[in-house]
Amino acid sequence: MKNKLLKIKETAFQEINKAKDLRVIENIRVKYFGRKDGLLTKVLRGVSDLPKDSRKEIGSVANSIKKELEGELEQAIRVIKGGKVSEAAFFDETLPGKKPPEGHIHPLTRIKLEVEDIFKSMGFEVHEGNELTNLYYNFLSLNFPENHPAMDSYDTFFIKEDPKKKIGLKDRRVMRAHTSNMQVKIMENKKPPLRVIVPGRCFRHEATDASHEHTFHQIEGFVVDEEISIANLVNTQKELLSRIFNKDVKVRLRPGYFPFVEPGFELDASCVICEGKGCSVCKKTGWIELIPCGMIHPKVFESAGYPKGKYTGFAFGMGWSRLAMMKYGIDDIRLFMSGDLRFLEQF
Ligand code: PHE
Repeated sequence: MKNKLLKIKETAFQEINKAKDLRVIENIRVKYFGRKDGLLTKVLRGVSDLPKDSRKEIGSVANSIKKELEGELEQAIRVIKGGKVSEAAFFDETLPGKKPPEGHIHPLTRIKLEVEDIFKSMGFEVHEGNELTNLYYNFLSLNFPENHPAMDSYDTFFIKEDPKKKIGLKDRRVMRAHTSNMQVKIMENKKPPLRVIVPGRCFRHEATDASHEHTFHQIEGFVVDEEISIANLVNTQKELLSRIFNKDVKVRLRPGYFPFVEPGFELDASCVICEGKGCSVCKKTGWIELIPCGMIHPKVFESAGYPKGKYTGFAFGMGWSRLAMMKYGIDDIRLFMSGDLRFLEQF
């Protein structure tokens, strides 16, 4: 039956291709689609009498052939009436091809590559690290005391565990709430001198708005050696920001609290939009709060198993989406992951 249908299709196509006037086309239409004796009409009418298992297949083949033939007939009528060769039949191989749309690098990836290059030129290594981590690496090893409210402010996503398994606090699995989860993990495996950055995705159970996303991007960085000072921290950030924004960016430190740094700071940069004169982005202050940072707390070195008092170091964690927003003048963080091509195609 199926072969018979395919044969009908083949002959019909040949006849349509040969047809030169509308009368012939009409005859072909009647031959296949005539209400009483049309070849296809008869097949379609007989479908309901077929055994159940072949009914569906034959029915759908017959229907699709019907559609194809109808389309071909219409096209033939158009060609005869318009006296033109159909677009499909005419192919000019000398015309230049249509260029398929080209993909390009996502704005976040662009900033990431740029930041990585800058840090690599200053001797840093790049690690990606784990997105799925545990309470130990995410908090406890970083001098967050057990059940300390500071942990709450990170709105962490916990993994649902089997209640039958007795899992200790340290091993409770969480999605990392910050890239600082890699500090102790990397220190455990490497001896100073260390210069490391960790660009990566972080997750927090947050209400989203123009400047908050549940999945966001951070670049952690830390340097550990025997005589690392706050001056090294400041200079590294100044160098990074001046190179990213292609201008001399001034920085200043204000006190900030994070359990894993002492002293801890909020590093502000002179506003790259108005260059410190005061605009809406910097709320007329001339400064933008950009990079939380500080000198690594001795407790963190203790977690890593480093000898007491031997090393000093600094750490920072910058919102990498924030850098991209400032560099490209993007006012809503949600655009990055929206998949909206109208946004992405601008980069
Ligand atoms: N991890 C901190 C946060 O996400 C930022 C930070 C990193 C602060 C390193 C100090 C040093 O809030």
